[in-house]
Amino acid sequence: MIPSDSALLHWYDRHRRDLPWRARPGRQATPYHVWLSEIMLQQTTVATVKAYYARFLEKYPTVDALAQAPRDDVLALWAGLGYYTRARNLHACARLLADQGAFPQTVDGLRALPGIGDYTARAIAAIAFGVPVIPVDGNVERIASRIFAIEEPLPQSRRQIAQRAATLNDGAQARARASDFAQALFDLGATICTPRNPACGLCPWREACAAHARGIAASLPRRARKQPK
Ligand code: ADE
Repeated sequence: MIPSDSALLHWYDRHRRDLPWRARPGRQATPYHVWLSEIMLQQTTVATVKAYYARFLEKYPTVDALAQAPRDDVLALWAGLGYYTRARNLHACARLLADQGAFPQTVDGLRALPGIGDYTARAIAAIAFGVPVIPVDGNVERIASRIFAIEEPLPQSRRQIAQRAATLNDGAQARARASDFAQALFDLGATICTPRNPACGLCPWREACAAHARGIAASLPRRARKQPK
């Protein structure tokens, strides 16, 4: 059974998390907001990012404001988030974008920017520009490995999982609502399809989930034992 894109979107419409970088009535999510949040979320949890994101936007409300800031000020505001290469790239990227005058709107165009790899390019393209691509992070790997009951362990299964994950948005609804669909996958992974004790009883994809049908959802994705050095 194919997981239904409209079932996931219907669930998202009722249960979406209200995160500061998401649009809601009275609050826009511009490409700048999406980009800033995705860079912060690369190696940091949602709970920690929230406060930093608010402080950053207060001090630098636009790409131009960030581009004009002295680099040391940007690094000081980043202090505590770690992985400082992100902050240096963020600043370099802001300067490029301020020169260019606009964000690229394709995965390839975004990936050419400092600090933006394949995952982040896909996340920004989908969330900010509605490009129908799936950003495959740990959440999405977990969801796909369970839906398709992929028992081969990570990391060997990574390519297979990504290929299967790419089929999740084949449906017309997922393509029409690419931004919501990508964020729905993040929310499903964060609140239902969790690493331990997944809440399968509440999952909109329960009936399509091959791992659930076999009673092995919680054990996927498997991970290869680390080889002794
Ligand atoms: N993890 C990475 N990007 C995210 C987003 N936009 N919302 C929630 N979790 C995320």
